[in-house]
Amino acid sequence: MSDQYAVIGNPVRHSLSPEIHAAFAGETGEDIEYERLLGDLEDFNGDVRDFFARGGCGLNVTVPFKQKAWELMDELSEGARIAGAVNTITRQDSGKLHGDNTDGVGLVRDLTQNHGFDFNNASVLLIGAGGASRGVILPLLQQQPACLMIANRTAEKAVLLADLFSGRGEICGCGLHEIGNQQFDLIINATAAGLKGDVPAIPETCLASGGWSYDMMYGREPTAFVRWGEAHHAGKALDGIGMLVEQAAESFYIWRGVRPHTAAVIQQLG
Ligand code: ATR
Repeated sequence: MSDQYAVIGNPVRHSLSPEIHAAFAGETGEDIEYERLLGDLEDFNGDVRDFFARGGCGLNVTVPFKQKAWELMDELSEGARIAGAVNTITRQDSGKLHGDNTDGVGLVRDLTQNHGFDFNNASVLLIGAGGASRGVILPLLQQQPACLMIANRTAEKAVLLADLFSGRGEICGCGLHEIGNQQFDLIINATAAGLKGDVPAIPETCLASGGWSYDMMYGREPTAFVRWGEAHHAGKALDGIGMLVEQAAESFYIWRGVRPHTAAVIQQLG
């Protein structure tokens, strides 16, 4: 029998992870099966236990279970521990469940390796202070940008989040209205505003000349924040499809020890 993997979420029907992992398996010759699991909102732990009791090897975790998965792990990578969220679960030979978070690595890889962004001397604005934002902060700081500002509609949440990571790099937190006339080489949208087709209320002038915009969301049509970037003459106005494929590639690497090529899969989905 092939090794069994799955993505668990609720809803999960829309998840592209099975197609992505099937493409990786085809390309690398790894013998895996990867399915979608609709998680029970009341009994996520039971679903995870059942999956591994049936011999499952690894799970990807998506909305709304990433924090619950974090609580359930026997062991955590440093990135997952500090992110407070797990998107990749691996069953160790001992039977222990190990949690990783590959979202931030996926974002950074997409920016640097696929698109050639240079964090050296870069000023970065990360908008949002929820789970999506928290999950990418450490990998962003590890790129040693000149500064990472977290700005959020509710200012206190951004300040608390920045405090949590102080000592790891140049980081500060504030409200959206406190961005003022500062300018950034990279603006990343990690808010849920796009779910309603909105963009966060950031100043019109906050993108430096030639600066890039990056929406962690993606869709068939350009997202509202991609359109914002284009309208503000971003050097590149990217959506999150590359991040999605790169976080999957990092999970695949953790599970299989083989790094799949991502370009063709990104192109196919983009
Ligand atoms: P997630 O885990 O996906 O990050 P979340 O924890 O609900 O989800 O956080 C959503 C984020 O999007 C928050 O930063 C939220 O701002 P608040 O903390 O002020 O609620 C942000 N957000 C949602 N809708 C927004 C909007 N229309 N404009 C700006 N920010 C928005």
